[in-house]
Amino acid sequence: RTIAVVLAGGSGRRIGLATPKQLLKIAGKTILEHTLELFDRAPGVDEILVMMNPGFVSDAEEIVKKAGFTTAVQVLPGGTSRNATTQLALDALHAHPGESTNVLFHDAVRPLLSQRIIADCIAALDAHAAVDVAIPSADTIIEVDSEDLITDVPKRSRLRRGQTPQAFRLATIREAYERAWRDPGFEATDDCTVVLRYLPGTPIHVVEGDGHNMKVTEPVDIFIADKLFQLAAAAAPALTGADRTERLTGTTMVVFGGS
Ligand code: CTP
Repeated sequence: RTIAVVLAGGSGRRIGLATPKQLLKIAGKTILEHTLELFDRAPGVDEILVMMNPGFVSDAEEIVKKAGFTTAVQVLPGGTSRNATTQLALDALHAHPGESTNVLFHDAVRPLLSQRIIADCIAALDAHAAVDVAIPSADTIIEVDSEDLITDVPKRSRLRRGQTPQAFRLATIREAYERAWRDPGFEATDDCTVVLRYLPGTPIHVVEGDGHNMKVTEPVDIFIADKLFQLAAAAAPALTGADRTERLTGTTMVVFGGS
């Protein structure tokens, strides 16, 4: 059984509006609804769990009710950090068998995820207990100290930019989190880091992401995501959701490729 956990517990501080960014409308629908649609359409996903900012649970429930998804969707309140939200999702899944359940954790604010990536993550879980999604970095990444002086410039060919989903066998991510909370210094910004640190030796397979699977983070990203949806709609007016996303590649190459 495969469960998609949509992480929507944040407040979007960097966007700076009173409404959390996952509830902002892009191309006529909230970002959250776009993201849920993708998992609703994914053939390998059996259930969806939305971990929502506690002040906006009823908004998310309303969106789910109106959309009428065919996949079962449950909405629960998220936690005070991304990792706390993941832990609350794991708690909610306590009755599921660890070895035969797969979980995909996805940022609610990545509404342009492709069906190809979802399918690749699910397929990779046949052979691997932990799976990440990443793309090569076009920029050189530098490491700095607290004085903003460069301490290292890692070789770019070995660097990747992490996206989501991050996919796990439930037993693996459960165990990693159990160990992590025993560490008083536990701090991470994603879930693969928790497996890497607290279940060392577990191979984490990397699935190729894509540039369109952007995270709406800063105000300008709302504009970019909106444009990407518009371009997709123009390229494939008869298609919706994920199929539109698949069509984005050709269209956006024209727009951004020459710059
Ligand atoms: N997230 C979550 N629970 C939290 C914090 C974040 O589920 N307590 C989710 C966000 O809703 C988002 C994803 O994790 O879908 C990625 O986080 P980020 O982009 O940092 O979102 P926010 O925390 O909302 O943004 P900001 O850091 O600007 O406040």
